[in-house]
Amino acid sequence: MYSSDIKELIKKVEARREYNTSYEPARMTAEQKEQLLATYHPDYRADQFELLKIGANKGEKVPHELAEMLQAHSRITADSVNLDDVAYDVDVLVIGGGGAGSSAAIEAKRAGANVMIVTKLRIGDANTVMAEGGIQGADKPNDSPAIHYIDAFGGGHFAAKPELLYKLVNEAPDAINWLNELGVEFDKAPDGTMITTHGGGTSRKRMHAAKDYTGSEIMRTLRDEVFNLQIPVVDFTAAIELILDENGKCAGAVLMNMETKELMVAKAKTVIIATGGAGRMHYQGFPTSNHYGATADGLVLGYRAGAKLLYADTLQYHPTGVAYPEQIFGALVTEKVRSIGAKLVNVNGEVFMHPLETRDVSAASIIRECSDRGNGVYTGSGYGVWLDTPMIERIHGEGTIMARIPAMHRMFNKYGIDIRYEPILVYPTLHYQNGGLDIGADCQTSNIENLFVAGEAVGGIHGRNRLMGNSLLDIIVFGRDAGRSAAEKAKNTDCCKLTLAHIAEFEAKIREAGIETDKVSPLLLPTYSHGNPKRS
Ligand code: FUM
Repeated sequence: MYSSDIKELIKKVEARREYNTSYEPARMTAEQKEQLLATYHPDYRADQFELLKIGANKGEKVPHELAEMLQAHSRITADSVNLDDVAYDVDVLVIGGGGAGSSAAIEAKRAGANVMIVTKLRIGDANTVMAEGGIQGADKPNDSPAIHYIDAFGGGHFAAKPELLYKLVNEAPDAINWLNELGVEFDKAPDGTMITTHGGGTSRKRMHAAKDYTGSEIMRTLRDEVFNLQIPVVDFTAAIELILDENGKCAGAVLMNMETKELMVAKAKTVIIATGGAGRMHYQGFPTSNHYGATADGLVLGYRAGAKLLYADTLQYHPTGVAYPEQIFGALVTEKVRSIGAKLVNVNGEVFMHPLETRDVSAASIIRECSDRGNGVYTGSGYGVWLDTPMIERIHGEGTIMARIPAMHRMFNKYGIDIRYEPILVYPTLHYQNGGLDIGADCQTSNIENLFVAGEAVGGIHGRNRLMGNSLLDIIVFGRDAGRSAAEKAKNTDCCKLTLAHIAEFEAKIREAGIETDKVSPLLLPTYSHGNPKRS
């Protein structure tokens, strides 16, 4: 429930609602956007980044928090593990049980591989279930993969790896169809056609959704299929180091039981990293919309083994994280709220930007409103702006909110805020890791053979900013392809002598570079107690 002070401020929003509902704010020019981003977007704050001193990306900048994990000690030494004592021996080892890992395992299994998923939590405990608004796919007559490509390439500042973005948009219609056939309950019109909407930066309505819990619905379906196919899932077990062979190819992983800390060896002909994002690293102190396990583990595993990162200096701050109430601070308010009509409004009740600018521009614009312009709304613990949700039913009629965004209604209603009648307070929240491991079109890392990557742990699919709905899409497209490629590669791979020599080599680099750290990585779980994980 809002305090009386906040209720007083809502009157200004109500006073201008009729005008604001029909007001069409101008889009920013390219120059205005550049200026805005450079001044207000967190990616441009030089003091929040540092240059890596060791590893394949030595000399490149990454956030301090990531540098600390990339240049930390291993949780183990090579002699703490007996590599001859093999607990699991598979063709394809998938690390991560979210949407990308599950899609990879499904397709690897269908391709005939002996595949296993290992996950530090449970299958489905991942950012996939946190994704709300939708999944893009150009499958309408007025649209095409080429138009989808242009939207995403521009939205990502023309930095996407062309071969990856090409794959993303061209395989999108088939990915939507694949999910539909598996049983995802997409929103459909009475005649069975898919209902599609806009997202920020899209020139066509190509967002397919299952109300406002699209990711959860997709994960439900993928999890069912993993179980249907009887793919083994080893849960509450984290991969803490990759294992290589004597030729530097990936050949498995060291696993750690999250409860007992027991170490196990998983030998594999090919490995797929599908460990997801990094929101729980809380870069620059931001809250996050991410799942509890989003701690950049895959980047750390790959980096220590020698893999290259791409764009690890660029993060996505979702413009509309919850700013009030505090209990759900940073939780996602889906972009779909804006795509069906709600506008962003400042403390004076003024619409200050077009609601569907790309995410980086929208986030920077909200930060400007709450900082230099002094137009933020004081929430009691910080600032936010209004997202005027009652506009939605003014535009589309009564019942729209419960029909299209019921999860948003439920989330706020628990705290006595009915979004049908009261606007909500939002501020940017750490949402997505644009950068990650560098891969080619076959999903294999550019410099470690037999190591594949899918999902949010990949860098370069979207460039330096991602459009809404292209992440649920990439986990399916790259998940499926990584599974197929890894299964195919496994057919021609004979393993080999296992080694963890890279751990000692990396340790030597830490020493030579004069890095003084008591940190160990991967982090695995956020350290809200400020405790530091210890070596096993
Ligand atoms: O706003 C959202 O629903 C988030 C979607 C996404 O990140 O793709």
